[in-house]
Amino acid sequence: MTTSTRYRETIAVRLTSDIVLARSQTRALAARLGFGKADQTRLATAVSELTRNVIMYAGSGACQITDTSDAEFNRIEIEVEDHGPGIADIDMAVQDGFSTGASMGAGLPGTRRLMENFSLQSAPGLTQVSVSLSVRKT
Ligand SMILES: Nc1ncnc2c1ncn2[C@@H]1O[C@H](COP(=O)(O)OP(=O)(O)OP(=O)(O)O)[C@@H](O)[C@H]1O
Ligand SMILES: [Mg+2]
Repeated sequence: MTTSTRYRETIAVRLTSDIVLARSQTRALAARLGFGKADQTRLATAVSELTRNVIMYAGSGACQITDTSDAEFNRIEIEVEDHGPGIADIDMAVQDGFSTGASMGAGLPGTRRLMENFSLQSAPGLTQVSVSLSVRKT
């Protein structure tokens, strides 16, 4: 029996250059899996926003990019986590315009709208955001 090893990469997130790398790796995987340009951009934007939050609010963390394709769909899952202070009020944090960083407050709600799945768990010491997007196989 053969087992196929699908793509999975974990990128340490500490510097702006790590955001750029996470973006480009996500976009490249999306292109290989047949995602159109608009979906590539959706995924790259989600990765940017989540990793930018890690740097802004937690200092450092990690971004895992995984090919979770199945027989019917090609799918990319992005999991971003950090060990920072956590999000005090998750319901507020996903509302448009809420920011504790004097910013736009658009990152999390925008990311949620761009993705098919969005899950956010946060407590002091561990924040995990997981998103995914799929495209039907042709
Ligand atoms: N990884 C995180 N750790 C702790 N708090 C976070 C984290 N990510 C988001 N938050 C909190 O959730 C709020 C909303 O995040 P969101 O990305 O939507 O907006 P923003 O970062 O404030 O502004 P924008 O992304 O538009 O520049 C942040 O202001 C911050 O309080
Ligand atoms: Mg943000």
